[in-house]
Amino acid sequence: MSNDEGPDASSVRPLVVPAADGRIDGTAADGRIDGTAADGRIDGTAADGRIDGTAADGRIDGSAADDPFGVYVHVPFCSVRCGYCDFNTYTADELGEGATRASFADTAIAEVHRMAEAVGPRPVETVFFGGGTPTQLPAEDLVRILGAVDDTLGLAPGAEVTTEANPDSVDATGLRILREGGFTRISFGVQSAVRHVLATLERTHDPERVPQAVRWAREAGFDQLSIDLIYGTPGESLQDWEHTLDQAVALEPDHVSAYALIVEDGTAFARKVRRGEVTMPDDDETAEKYLLADERLGAAGLGWYELSNWARDESAHCRHNLLYWRSDDWWGIGPGAHSHVAGRRWWNVKHPAAYAGRLAAGRSPELDAEVVDDATQRMEQVMLRSRLREGVPTSLVASRGSALADLERRGLVDVDLDRVVLTLEGRLLADAVVRDLT
Ligand SMILES: C[S@@+](CC[C@H](N)C(=O)[O-])C[C@H]1O[C@@H](n2cnc3c(N)ncnc32)[C@H](O)[C@@H]1O
Ligand code: SF4
Repeated sequence: MSNDEGPDASSVRPLVVPAADGRIDGTAADGRIDGTAADGRIDGTAADGRIDGTAADGRIDGSAADDPFGVYVHVPFCSVRCGYCDFNTYTADELGEGATRASFADTAIAEVHRMAEAVGPRPVETVFFGGGTPTQLPAEDLVRILGAVDDTLGLAPGAEVTTEANPDSVDATGLRILREGGFTRISFGVQSAVRHVLATLERTHDPERVPQAVRWAREAGFDQLSIDLIYGTPGESLQDWEHTLDQAVALEPDHVSAYALIVEDGTAFARKVRRGEVTMPDDDETAEKYLLADERLGAAGLGWYELSNWARDESAHCRHNLLYWRSDDWWGIGPGAHSHVAGRRWWNVKHPAAYAGRLAAGRSPELDAEVVDDATQRMEQVMLRSRLREGVPTSLVASRGSALADLERRGLVDVDLDRVVLTLEGRLLADAVVRDLT
């Protein structure tokens, strides 16, 4: 999956493994859903800030105010770019003229105001700050952006407010400011507990940093703590992965995401693979690591609720990601961020300078949009919802009847009343099974 500005076809991998796109399955961290057909695509930018499909006063019609609504904030800064990552993020050297970290909060808040004009007061159930590395910004800036969302749309009672963080981009004081400022959940990019694996991934933290960051987060009062892991890094043995899982469990997280490393075109890592400097594991090894993750996390009381996500119980599920997986509404603030409201999707200009320039000129940062037709919507719902433990309603599944019975006979799905749910075997072959269901 690339991180360009428009929807692209998902890379369908032959065998294996839970859509290992490294982020939210089927959805990029900027809220973009992959694998969507580009039918209904509307070219051109609403340069006057008016959103196609909205009423003339700029308000979006057609979405019920009581449907769940989330806000994603994309913070496009990192201290160093990890070789495998193609997210829309910039180091200080890469950023260039026209955008600064210091001005980001005010720019993002300008988009928050545009959002409020378009959707009106609508309680926000979830806010997710992702990146990039949100915690590259001062905690006060993140709290200010969150405050603007609360002041305009209003946070729903008990709203989930998450930030992603790198273990070496936080300190005790910053975490306290975030918690006191309304953040309820933190997601640390741990990836591995093994030094040589972190080195291959070009991560900047060492394994010892992780328990310290987790301790600070707990002391600050974060009672929802998630960690991201990656498996299948070249050179990672089964024992290395086992060690990472053991260390992860020892941190007593409420939630774990574990994704297979994906080779993204155009990254430094992809060039190393092409030159033969590193070798990716085969599908069987990757599947074995998935099974090990499911077993170890399960034994520690973390149950799967989505192919690549495990949680202590239902209260620890990531409500924001569930909103993507269930095709609810969200607005993406920030450069390159994607939005989906009332069946319309749009995405912002990608570069932080172009994003800041548009908003400073009083224009919409939207680059392009599409309206999702019913057939595409159904297909996407099957793709995303069949990855959930709650399953996909049989009414949405195209292959009702014999094809479905065949998947059931082969032990790849369970059909339970009106839901189709992947079995463990089915989870290992998720891409292929989901293709059969769409
Ligand atoms: C884009 S990062 C943002 C948060 C933070 N900067 C971090 O690295 O943890 C979110 C997650 O995506 C993962 N990710 C990025 N590129 C990936 C890839 N090619 N394969 C698997 N995971 C990937 C990262 O490792 C991280 O856990
Ligand atoms: S720190 Fe996170 S967002 Fe930044 S380059 Fe690494 S994986 Fe990508």
